[in-house]
Amino acid sequence: KVIALITGGTTGERVISVKSAATISHNLDPDKFDVYKIMLTQQGWFYEPVDSVRIEVDRNDFSVLYNGRKITFDGVFIAIHGAPGEDGKLQGYFDMLNLPYTTCDALTSAVTMNKGYTKSIVQDIPNLFVAKSVQIFKNTPYHLADIKSSLTLPYFVKPNNGGSSIGMSKVKNQYDLQTAIDKAFKEDEQVLIEEFIEGREFTVGVVKLDGKITVLPATEVETAKEFFDFEAKYTPGVAVETTPAPIRPETKKRVEEIATAVYAKLNCRGVVRIDFILLGDEGDFYFIEINTIPGQTVTSFIPQQVAASGMKLNDFYTKLIKETIG
Ligand code: DAL
Ligand code: MG
Repeated sequence: KVIALITGGTTGERVISVKSAATISHNLDPDKFDVYKIMLTQQGWFYEPVDSVRIEVDRNDFSVLYNGRKITFDGVFIAIHGAPGEDGKLQGYFDMLNLPYTTCDALTSAVTMNKGYTKSIVQDIPNLFVAKSVQIFKNTPYHLADIKSSLTLPYFVKPNNGGSSIGMSKVKNQYDLQTAIDKAFKEDEQVLIEEFIEGREFTVGVVKLDGKITVLPATEVETAKEFFDFEAKYTPGVAVETTPAPIRPETKKRVEEIATAVYAKLNCRGVVRIDFILLGDEGDFYFIEINTIPGQTVTSFIPQQVAASGMKLNDFYTKLIKETIG
């Protein structure tokens, strides 16, 4: 199969996307797939056969003219985190071209990119809880006093459509709220202010393979930092990540049921990763967010969880492509 592997993007997560695409291309079986890496940038969409050669993609049919030959694709492996790959825009474009891709559809991608809307959909799943929050919009007046009276400190302030903790702050003192909101508005038109949930942090991959929703072994994340921020996420050694997570069998069963229900309710496709906080002595699970194009860098959770499941990464990608592209 001829596969376009799409990387880059227009947000601060593009550096992560390039690393994710490197893992994916390294692990796509060359006997099965003919892979063309396509870079999406602010300047344009390019196929780069070798360094410093840029061939512009024809956006009318997503083809590439290379060595006098027009190359078209059987499907697209989207490896962009954030806009325009994780938020439904590329999915909508590929739907119009009838080109299959590896991710959730346009609607699910768009909805799940928005942390606030996603919470309102998953909050009635049995045994799953969400932190109380307020959503504000750049062009609509808001009052700090209303936020402070409806939420208990500390808060997490997040760009509602962001990723990798970019633009995020933990606010312990109400005097810091405005600065945190301003910082988040630099990344997004919408900001989510959430009550901070104190507990153990977990993240779990979910994927439909061979027609069946499969939950990968969960990872527990521990960091000495205030929270699992960009540095802790991508600097080896700053966070301790344990896969499979050291939880009781009952808790493992519960998180698998919840993760399966979230995947099903949001009508997901491909591989996603859901982040949770677990309260107290393995009490309630709180939903933080879902990532429909989770990081695939060598140190990212999904490659770790696939390895812990006993599957080889190249077999995992082969099955993922078979399931989503055919
Ligand atoms: N948003 C990053 C890439 C992740 O969820 O892994
Ligand atoms: Mg995320």
